[in-house]
Amino acid sequence: MNIIKVQDYDEMGSVTADYVSEKIQDNPEMTLGLATGSTPKSTYKHLIEAHQKGTSFKHITTFNLDEYVGLKPNDPNSYHYYMNKFFFQHIDIPSEKAHLPNGHSRNISQECEEYEKKIKSHMIDLQILGIGANGHIGFNEPGTSFESNTHVVELADSTRRANARFFSSLEEVPTHAITMGIASIMSSKEIVLLVSGEAKSEALERLLSGEEPNESFPASILRSHPHVTIIADKEALMGTGIKL
Ligand code: F6R
Repeated sequence: MNIIKVQDYDEMGSVTADYVSEKIQDNPEMTLGLATGSTPKSTYKHLIEAHQKGTSFKHITTFNLDEYVGLKPNDPNSYHYYMNKFFFQHIDIPSEKAHLPNGHSRNISQECEEYEKKIKSHMIDLQILGIGANGHIGFNEPGTSFESNTHVVELADSTRRANARFFSSLEEVPTHAITMGIASIMSSKEIVLLVSGEAKSEALERLLSGEEPNESFPASILRSHPHVTIIADKEALMGTGIKL
């Protein structure tokens, strides 16, 4: 795993946006895997700036990692809404090329199968990931099989509590989500993992510790992927022994 060290959250966003923009220049029809949450917001901000300076997203295809079950796409807490607000509505990607799981589908297991099929038919060139303090990637909580494809998960209490900051109360945080599985994520040709802030420093330390991939710490699987770049800021690196 290659590590790019950055000073802070904003620099993480600008370095990641430059990295992604270069990939798009090399391959304007690339397929990009996207994440939500706090971590990639600065990347989207900088990608929007890149768009204003000429980068076009017209021919790329995107797949998001996950979506809450039970929230309609126009629900302000859904990841559909988040992606439109923080990224898609500011760039030139045609809406039919931007894919997210439909958490409001009547048949959630069929939705998972179809989403997985779509991912397989495209092949993700570059997947952007964040990480949970417990090592989750996507919504794959500790204990998730490394063989998993897109599936429904019951969210860990710690994840619901961590995400409650986006809702008016903890009760409103959905209990389930659809997520790309670990195998779906690992089938990406390349992965960029973003890690920012002190709250993630233990998880980063564990990831870098040399621990063999094991399902109790989902992100550990990334050690066995041939092309992973970690972009981490100073606070996240604190405690890992890696100096800026
Ligand atoms: C989001 C996702 C999650 C987040 C993780 C970190 O699509 O798949 O794995 O990346 O929960 O969230 P933040 O960035 O909010 O700390």
